[in-house]
Amino acid sequence: MKSSWKKLAQHAQQVVSLSDLFHQQPDRFTQFSLQAGPLLLDYSKNNITAETIEHLLELAIESELPAWRKRLFEGDQINTTEQRAVQHTALRAAPPNKMGAEINAQLLKMEQLCRALHTGDWCGYHGDAIKDVVVIGIGGSYLGSQLVCDALQNSRVTDIKIHFVANVDAHCLQQTLAQLTPASCLFVVISKSFNTQETLLNANTALHWLQQAGCPPSDVAKHFIAITSNAPKAMQFGMHEDNIFSMWDWVGGRYSVWSCVGLPIAIQIGMSGFREFLAGAASMDEHFNTAPLEQNMPVLMALVGLWNNNFLNYQQLAVLPYDQRLQHLPTYLQQLDMESNGKQVNRAGETISYATGPILFGEVGTNGQHAFHQLLHQGNHIVPCDFIAFAQPAHNFTQHHEALLANMLAQSQALMVGRNQQQTMKLLLEQGKTEQQAQQLAPHMVFSGNRPSNTIIADRLDAHTLGALLAAYEHKVFVQGVVWDINSFDQMGVELGKTLSQPLLTCLLQSDTDRSLDSSTSGLLAELNKRRKN
Ligand code: F6P
Repeated sequence: MKSSWKKLAQHAQQVVSLSDLFHQQPDRFTQFSLQAGPLLLDYSKNNITAETIEHLLELAIESELPAWRKRLFEGDQINTTEQRAVQHTALRAAPPNKMGAEINAQLLKMEQLCRALHTGDWCGYHGDAIKDVVVIGIGGSYLGSQLVCDALQNSRVTDIKIHFVANVDAHCLQQTLAQLTPASCLFVVISKSFNTQETLLNANTALHWLQQAGCPPSDVAKHFIAITSNAPKAMQFGMHEDNIFSMWDWVGGRYSVWSCVGLPIAIQIGMSGFREFLAGAASMDEHFNTAPLEQNMPVLMALVGLWNNNFLNYQQLAVLPYDQRLQHLPTYLQQLDMESNGKQVNRAGETISYATGPILFGEVGTNGQHAFHQLLHQGNHIVPCDFIAFAQPAHNFTQHHEALLANMLAQSQALMVGRNQQQTMKLLLEQGKTEQQAQQLAPHMVFSGNRPSNTIIADRLDAHTLGALLAAYEHKVFVQGVVWDINSFDQMGVELGKTLSQPLLTCLLQSDTDRSLDSSTSGLLAELNKRRKN
């Protein structure tokens, strides 16, 4: 065990409550907040002192974080199980970098397509301009562009609507297609492997729908493009060579929004908007790569997260954007964090006993307040929270925005300070309750407080700021993976279910059951088969 890990474990025995910490150090906000590019991070509402940070930084050094960070920015093969380089940061770096020419060629191709769509030069089989783009992809092949397209609605440069179809459940595809006219529809099939069941099924059904509507085979290319690193497979599907955009082996799905996978974003906000998004991420890369560890936002986010997770045993993380436009951020971060760091063995393949990636969930404020915040305030699990908000909204309904911000501030304050028995009794008596009634009610209305949170704020939500925010979380996940000594870039955990679904699919197709299966799976299969016939 690393000596800094031992020190932190001992130090965690003397943890001080948040209220006491704020009494002892009234200037905690100054001490435990920092600005990086457009983002301000306040991490003062965590059970940390200068000594905690000192030990955490020692842990980062003992884990050789600077060397790993160098390897990341040099595009080294740090995805060792899949023998792949990791180079998503190259996608947003200003050339020259070693992949610069290839990346630029794809950016240019994206630019040409966006222009043709925006001017109406790209026409469907009837000669109509494209009005709707349907993105077909799952996981990293849609979560990022869905998040960003939704977040940056206000920066749209076109009336073309972007729709997303991910689930193999055809209710999604059916509901989407029901709103659309085939002749003015463009399908963008995004799949790094071009081998993903959900995506291929949806793409095939969409193709069938288009052809049923009268699109001749010779015109299918006017309605289908692919973004993939498996061009031969895309061509086998029927994609025209010119309509294939590259994704590279060295970009993991959940790190791919910066590549051609971000094409839907570029269509919606224009190439200059997309480049702003890349530039925002690049500015966070620069900060992460060069700022001293003690003033480094992703490093501090990661280390404070580790402190909560591994030393205080708070193994969840609630991401709470107080901005409707970031409604998809929790889902995006779920994949980024949980697919990267939900691991049980270290890089050498040895079983590890410490907790790795947190269970991440979230919801936009204030909706979450009326759903799961009860547990955040009074449940027996302590769930560290990340609050995110912007000072300036993109609307003029000032009253709404003030209410939103007041709610966010109140939530993190309430989680921190709580309300003790004495305060609660006083309140109840003031409200006219009898002593006996107050005694009975008070335990239900006490808030233990001392629940940690971070708050990230920025002036406004724009492409640059969003790029910086997502890159900050990417690097946070990277730093935690380094300290935990895990490979954050593979995702073997998703494979077993995919494999097991194949024989079960055969059973469903043949309305049969497999007697060698466990009784639960075979029982359910038999019942489903029976009910499907009714
Ligand atoms: O869920 C597993 C996964 O492999 C993700 O990592 C990836 O983002 C997603 O499936 C989609 O994969 P593809 O882009 O190859 O269709």
